[in-house]
Amino acid sequence: MSAVLVTGIGELVTNGPGQGDGLLGLRHGAAVVCEDGRVRWVGSATEAPAADRVVDVGGRAVLPGFVDAHTHLVFAGDRAAEFAARMAGERYDGGGIASTVAATRASDDDTLRALLADRIAELRSQGTTTVEIKSGYGLTTADELRALRLAAEVTTETTFLGAHVVPPDHDHDSYLRLVLGEMIPACAGAARWLDVFCEPASAHAFDGDQSRAVLEAGRDAGFALRVHGNQLGPGPGVRLAVELGAASVDHCTFLDDADVDALAAGDTVATLLPGVEFATRSPYPDARRLLDAGVTVALATDCNPGTCYTTSMPLIIALAVREMGMTPAEAVRAATAGAARSLWRDDVGSITVGSRADLAVLDAPSHLHLAYRPGVPLARALDVG
Ligand code: NIG
Ligand code: FE
Repeated sequence: MSAVLVTGIGELVTNGPGQGDGLLGLRHGAAVVCEDGRVRWVGSATEAPAADRVVDVGGRAVLPGFVDAHTHLVFAGDRAAEFAARMAGERYDGGGIASTVAATRASDDDTLRALLADRIAELRSQGTTTVEIKSGYGLTTADELRALRLAAEVTTETTFLGAHVVPPDHDHDSYLRLVLGEMIPACAGAARWLDVFCEPASAHAFDGDQSRAVLEAGRDAGFALRVHGNQLGPGPGVRLAVELGAASVDHCTFLDDADVDALAAGDTVATLLPGVEFATRSPYPDARRLLDAGVTVALATDCNPGTCYTTSMPLIIALAVREMGMTPAEAVRAATAGAARSLWRDDVGSITVGSRADLAVLDAPSHLHLAYRPGVPLARALDVG
């Protein structure tokens, strides 16, 4: 491998030490040297060392590639009609997941692999360089294992979500027996994370006791934990996630004071998914309240065919700024360093010596343009290989 010098950077978001005390560690007049997939040097362009190749980005902004820490990318079919019905007034309750399960089970490996590859290309073309992928549209041991195997072909951040909803051929009791007795032991080692859809407000998902049983069994089997919590109504998901040391609790739309206090006192990241509120026409989470309480906030797409069919982190950043009271800097930080923390990763989400050479470039001079020019395809992953 050869050293690549990235120069001509209008604004560099490092999320590390910068010029001034800003949230993003901004640097101007900077250059970056990458080699063997790692950042080797960050400094003033006038002092840059020689390199084998020079990439001049012509005054554009460079930032850490986005870390999309919550997706459900292994699926077949779509639910456009369900979306249209919702826009005509129907409520989302998770019931539509069964149709994606049927379409996914009916697809062969190569079909699912090709759909997944298209989605990965799509997210990379919008600046995402790390992605977490959940199973959860198989809901049999064999179909969940297959989804995890396909996900592992494209990312190390794989998540077993067998406890997504109860499939049509089961009731809660029989399905939980299957998850606890067969799926968790079979999927241990096939995924890094385990997640559960803890949502007493949905007849299809799991209440606090059921979620606790799944999370504890997952932890005992060696998974690290994540939780879908407090999406459709108030509930125990957030406090359970903090109590059990989950890396992240995702959605966080309906929180009471005790939930916010628990997050502020614990280490669990609150991952907000405003694309879901956009596509389900729901009230947005109160990001300001979480940030003001000192909670680490991450942003992710939740890309899935039901509640948010987008791979675009720039859209999510724009929604966070325009609808959730986040500043542009807070949103960019949440989509990079915050999300990296939600995956317990310190090698992505920043541009500092030793971090992975996962860079994104904007067709704009500053990160501000991500929210300022919503819907414009400004971001892409930068090839420094
Ligand atoms: O994160 N909430 C549960 N699961 C997904 C939606 C899945 C679907 O509707 O297909 C979510 O919103
Ligand atoms: Fe989700």
